[in-house]
Amino acid sequence: MRLTGKHIVLGVTGSIAAYKAAILLRGLVKEGAEVQVVMTPAAKEFITPVTMSALSGKPVASEFFSANDGSWYSHVDMGQWADLILIAPATAATIGKMAHGVCDNLLITTYLSAKCQVMIAPAMDLDMFRHPANLSNLEILRSFGNLIIEPAEGELASGLYGKGRMEEPENILEEVVHFFNQKKKLLNRHFLVTAGPTHEKIDPVRFIGNYSSGKMGYAIANALADSGAKVSLVSGPVHIKITNPNITIIQVESASEMHELCLRIFPEADGAVMCAAVADFTPLSYSGSKLKRGKDELTIQLKPTNDIAEELGRIKTGKQVLVGFALETNDELANAWSKLKRKNLDFIVLNSMNDPGAGFAVDTNKITLIDMDNNQTVSELKSKKEVAVDIVSRIILEMERKTSQK
Ligand code: C5P
Repeated sequence: MRLTGKHIVLGVTGSIAAYKAAILLRGLVKEGAEVQVVMTPAAKEFITPVTMSALSGKPVASEFFSANDGSWYSHVDMGQWADLILIAPATAATIGKMAHGVCDNLLITTYLSAKCQVMIAPAMDLDMFRHPANLSNLEILRSFGNLIIEPAEGELASGLYGKGRMEEPENILEEVVHFFNQKKKLLNRHFLVTAGPTHEKIDPVRFIGNYSSGKMGYAIANALADSGAKVSLVSGPVHIKITNPNITIIQVESASEMHELCLRIFPEADGAVMCAAVADFTPLSYSGSKLKRGKDELTIQLKPTNDIAEELGRIKTGKQVLVGFALETNDELANAWSKLKRKNLDFIVLNSMNDPGAGFAVDTNKITLIDMDNNQTVSELKSKKEVAVDIVSRIILEMERKTSQK
């Protein structure tokens, strides 16, 4: 199964070749992909949604609202969920609408909301295909970075012979597999990722924690795994489900548990991304029974925890990449830079608490990446998924640099 864990939106439009979309869908599912089919209204004239939902194991999305209960199909959610949007077959009309942003159906709105790669398999008559309007629309789509799976030459539904026949489903499937394989620059690499908060126990019912949701760390684990790496994700208590076969989750609660596991895993790893918001202090002593309410003030003495990143920085070899995070409220750049130095990091990802949309619990982040030469790269506000992909691209560059240094 070469597409396990991949999320694919399969867009089907109104062409005779729509029946081939069923064969393509079957192939994608057999390879382990999770497929959400989106049909344009015209597509349903050629193949029934029942066929497509049976093969994908999911209801087909087609209208903006469900006629039954008024529930809304979120094109934004689908666009964010997808690792790939594949439109097969794509008619001249759909290609034109995509090129010009004409959002009159769910498929085009999903296309405009998506951040992932888009692949398009055109299907039309030869004269339509070679019409300058269609060719220039395809050029526009290429300029957006979309991949066009060239139609084949052959017999067309009109009875004519020429270029315009949708590429065969088996070949489209191979293009999809190839696209995902290309991205696997971290094959045979192993990364340690820490994520989430830690809980430092005071007594059996109370702890000291923080607002970290774990979203950024989990997104990084996913992005590393998507690039082919095996990931050991040492996670504090969070509410995120993850089912990527390349990711092993090791649940911990306290900073000291996280510390112990990281020291054990790191020597075997090619690198580590320290995303967890590890408690800096933990109670000096633990009360085995619940502390009782009293009239007097209660003082809990705290002792510092081990700085895991700093310890890994000390044992890091020349081949390992170590990445840290800094969440700052003031003197951001100076603080982040001194952390990078102290912890011997290859680069540090700075989020400022002063940036709206960045930091704990939200789905977006705005980062500044600082490297060992104090080069600072500021990026715009993005989803944590996109930020994770950017960070992993940078890790790949660092790995390549270290490997070439020998
Ligand atoms: O010093 P500060 O806590 O701001 O540093 C943040 C970075 O160090 C993050 O990458 C965090 O995961 C890591 N860290 C750690 N162990 C600690 C504290 C922070 O690994 N005890």
